[in-house]
Amino acid sequence: MAKNKSYKPCDLVIYGGLGDLTTRKLLISLYRLEKAGLIEDGSRIIGVDRYEKTDADYVNIAEKSLKAFLNDSIDEEVWQRFSNRLSYLKIDLRVMDEYQQLHQATDSKARVLVNYLSVSPVLFKDICQGLQQCGVLTDESRIVMEKPIGHSLETSQEINDVVSDVFNENQVFRIDHYLGKETVLNLLSLRFANSIFTTNWDHNTVDHIQITVAEEVGIEGRWEYFDQTGQLRDMLQNHLLQILTFVAMEPPVNLEAPNIRSEKIKVLEALRPITENNVDETTVRGQYMKGFQQATPVPGYLEEEGANTESKTESFVAIRVDIDNWRWAGVPFYLRTGKRMNYKRTEIVVYFKQLPHNIFKDSYRHLPPNKLIIHLQPNEGVEIEMLNKIPGIDGDIKLQKTKLDLSFSETFKKNKLFGGYEKLILETMRGNPTLFLSRDEIEQAWAWVDSIQEAWEKSGDEPRPYPAGTWGPIASDSLLSRDGRAWEG
Ligand code: BG6
Repeated sequence: MAKNKSYKPCDLVIYGGLGDLTTRKLLISLYRLEKAGLIEDGSRIIGVDRYEKTDADYVNIAEKSLKAFLNDSIDEEVWQRFSNRLSYLKIDLRVMDEYQQLHQATDSKARVLVNYLSVSPVLFKDICQGLQQCGVLTDESRIVMEKPIGHSLETSQEINDVVSDVFNENQVFRIDHYLGKETVLNLLSLRFANSIFTTNWDHNTVDHIQITVAEEVGIEGRWEYFDQTGQLRDMLQNHLLQILTFVAMEPPVNLEAPNIRSEKIKVLEALRPITENNVDETTVRGQYMKGFQQATPVPGYLEEEGANTESKTESFVAIRVDIDNWRWAGVPFYLRTGKRMNYKRTEIVVYFKQLPHNIFKDSYRHLPPNKLIIHLQPNEGVEIEMLNKIPGIDGDIKLQKTKLDLSFSETFKKNKLFGGYEKLILETMRGNPTLFLSRDEIEQAWAWVDSIQEAWEKSGDEPRPYPAGTWGPIASDSLLSRDGRAWEG
């Protein structure tokens, strides 16, 4: 793939260079970018961690990661180029003097220093101070932060304060990996480049919208982290609310970061608060019990390794969200996300309003509504469900539900679909902030989620059990049936 623009090369320093995220995702994504010819000549990748390793060890570790997680054979020529960029530094991130080594390893005149924090947030303060004290930073330097950025509004403010003591907001890149997904980005084009959707996207035409992020996986050995977090904070506060903002926002004046961000934040500000007063009728929490997934028995949440058997942490959440603004008045958004559900499925379904009058009563007593189904993953694509006449010359007009079906992999055969991380790492190296979260967005989302968490804690209710391999507790169906609706099957 040819690049259409050149950028200043960078020194990408990954703190947590031996960690899980780096070895499973970041190095793999960087290799893919190398293969696509998208890493600037002269750019370097420096892994930083607390263990004693040489550069050669780090190259071996990267090669092992690629063999384990690339799902493709390693191209010898690409690997040579890629491995030449790799080096390693042993730094104890709590010891300020040790950051001096960055002077030797980086060159902030010839390259942009990109600091990628793939470590626990408890180290963010030390890293920011270490970088500042050792004097390697320039106005061009960047900091990239992985979630969780806090655990509540208060803790996220603490992290953002620490970072903003050292970096300006335009130097800070907060990652939500869903914003790198091709289909999430495609929401902008779908909505703002197609007149059928720009004009049929509000309370006049839309009945309600469903967003489902169902995961097949359980908590994958992260019991302790997950148990303190729960699905509301782990998935809904960030990924689902981000999808929601893309679906609900007003058209930005252009694609520049500040304009997109300001439209997204207006959506978050318009979310109707969920408090003690309405939490029971607007939310459902669940926790998976043992069950079967693709015919294989799997343990329940409380039987996972390291589990505290008293835990009340939710692994499933369903919420009715109301957006109190002009466009969406009276149009509920139903969000659900859970672990150990039937299968992996991330989709948005827009249900259009029913027609006021039915002249096809022979086919349907009530005409089914049109639906727009956007498959975010897997099998990326867009479907429109509509009614058509069944062909035939004899007899009355009979209708049948049919689908206009656009599959990305079929339609864009020549264009490789990249994962979210490739896109986001590339944008951090190029310094384009559009796909990253502003401080305001994160804090607004926390404020809304904190109130739900608080209402749950006060209510003392326990999450409702659901067998692994299903679509969550029955109460999740009632959340919609109460409003005369049902989840997309
Ligand atoms: C992460 C969560 O942010 O997203 C995980 O911490 C979750 O718990 C993962 O499994 C899901 O990401 P994806 O891209 O597989 O949908």
